[in-house]
Amino acid sequence: MFFLLSGEHYPLPRMELESCLAADGVRWQEAGSLGRVALLDLDGPPPTRMGLTPEIGELACTADDAEGLIAAVTDSPLELAGSFVVRASTVPKAFDCGATRLEPRLGDVIGERTGAPVDLHDPDTVLRVIATPEGAVMGPRVHQRGTFDDRKSDRRPYFHPSSLAPKLARAMVNLSGARSQKTLLDPFCGTGGIPIEAAMVGCRVLASDIDPKMVAGTKANLDHLDLEASMATGDARHVTELFGEGSVDCIATDPPYGRAASTWGVGLKDLFSEVFPALFAVLRPGGLMCMGAPQQVPLETLCRDVGFKYLQGVRIRVHGSLTRHICVAERP
Ligand SMILES: C[S@@+](CC[C@H](N)C(=O)[O-])C[C@H]1O[C@@H](n2cnc3c(N)ncnc32)[C@H](O)[C@@H]1O
Repeated sequence: MFFLLSGEHYPLPRMELESCLAADGVRWQEAGSLGRVALLDLDGPPPTRMGLTPEIGELACTADDAEGLIAAVTDSPLELAGSFVVRASTVPKAFDCGATRLEPRLGDVIGERTGAPVDLHDPDTVLRVIATPEGAVMGPRVHQRGTFDDRKSDRRPYFHPSSLAPKLARAMVNLSGARSQKTLLDPFCGTGGIPIEAAMVGCRVLASDIDPKMVAGTKANLDHLDLEASMATGDARHVTELFGEGSVDCIATDPPYGRAASTWGVGLKDLFSEVFPALFAVLRPGGLMCMGAPQQVPLETLCRDVGFKYLQGVRIRVHGSLTRHICVAERP
């Protein structure tokens, strides 16, 4: 049994996690949840490529509150090979229940029970305690999300204000059903936020944009990270001429909103209604598309009008005047 911590933009982290489990063919059963901590029984290893799941642990024990873990750990089947350290935090951060003050006490109890030594600096096992208002969990950390900081848009050679944040780009890649060896297309690639994350999970990446400066910028940003994509300059409304019909397994994309990113003189309504048939045609049957657009764009209707099955969607507030609708659709 695993505990998985959800990050920002709830419920997007949960949608991303379930997409990864489905793409990996791992079956799961919900065993409970404590606020943003999900408890899942999995019949395979947990995926570790999510952008919005900062941590995963193997459940050793739960309690009504952090203090209760001291009693619970005594009866738990926890076994440790080598040294350990206890690291506690609260979710949300502002939930002050003194969990971090329990670290030494838990360390003493666990050390006594298992015979394992504490090592504060280079432990073999980090025992994570996560305390929430709904209860607390403890167990060995099996995954901690790497930093996405080196890929932030202002740290890449080519910058444009329309760039997507890397964690959100990763979530969109995963929502499109991507995994290693699948072919993913972003036909509005901009500075390459989505192609970068897709290449990092091992996809074969196809990327295009109508603006040759953006295509060169995506290439520069990929090169900077030692990543690759097949690139083309062209209009997404004619994407099948660039890459061929039914040629891609997944699409993850973020078309222009006519604000920071230009629509090149085409009205937003026309652009979306003309691009949807092309996106449908370039995707293989059974493939998924994840698209982000301002909530005013009727994504659900656009999907249905061309034959996509609209699977799920979520609205995320970006700032006062922009709420993004992120949706997932399938070509049947
Ligand atoms: C919102 S930006 C994409 C940002 C990108 N996700 C990133 O992380 O940098 C939209 C992009 O669509 C491109 N674009 C506008 N009209 C297009 C069209 N008809 N076909 C292809 N690309 C187009 C713009 O040049 C812009 O780079």
